[in-house]
Amino acid sequence: MIFDSQLEASKEAFRWVKESMEAGAEVLGLATGSSPETLYQLLRESDLDFRETVSINLDEYYGLAPDHPQSYHSYMEDQLFHAKPFKESYLPDGTQADAGQETARYDQILVDHPIDLQILGIGTNAHIGFNEPGAPFDGRTQRVDLAPATIQANQRFFGSLDEVPRQAYSMGIGSIMEAKEIILLAFGQAKAGAIQASIEGPVTEAVPASILQRHPHVLVLLDREAASDLSPETLSQVKQAQV
Ligand code: F6R
Repeated sequence: MIFDSQLEASKEAFRWVKESMEAGAEVLGLATGSSPETLYQLLRESDLDFRETVSINLDEYYGLAPDHPQSYHSYMEDQLFHAKPFKESYLPDGTQADAGQETARYDQILVDHPIDLQILGIGTNAHIGFNEPGAPFDGRTQRVDLAPATIQANQRFFGSLDEVPRQAYSMGIGSIMEAKEIILLAFGQAKAGAIQASIEGPVTEAVPASILQRHPHVLVLLDREAASDLSPETLSQVKQAQV
């Protein structure tokens, strides 16, 4: 669906989250970054109660302690958890040097708590989570190298390029695809190419988000800029929101 603004798209995302919760969703998969910020604001301001809900985040920078201001632990605390505590909230541990141990721990969490609804953003190179181009479609949690485009894009959250971590722990694409429902949020011109390739292009590991074409329950919420490279054929098929 295409909206005039991030706010209007996020209101639709909020409706989906609310309906999923009312339908019995117990586990939410959460993303960080700018794309879900307005959704989190709507959740913070809502009367939804997450005290019986489990959250599982997609990723965390390797090398950042939970209390680092740019860690995804800090982001989630600021954006959502301080206002809306969950029963349990899981993120990868960016301080765990033993990748085998941390990825096994996280994969077990995903086995114990199958995700009902996964929120996703998308990178300018079409990454989902920190699964960069070339990541295997059947992948599980891994410690990954961030692509140069991702380091560049995330510089805005740090003081300088040098401060952006070069690695992260990320849920794999195989786990993301096991979520029962997925909401993909993309806003702004910088996402237009990634959205076009993911929706209209071939399903290929070179374009990680293209795998979502094979998921049975994905809601793609875009603003006009993110949708601006889509073909007239695609645009004639997608719902243009009346806002
Ligand atoms: C964040 C994540 C990433 C972001 C993507 C877009 O947890 O997994 O895939 O969703 O990098 O980031 P923003 O929304 O900041 O443009």
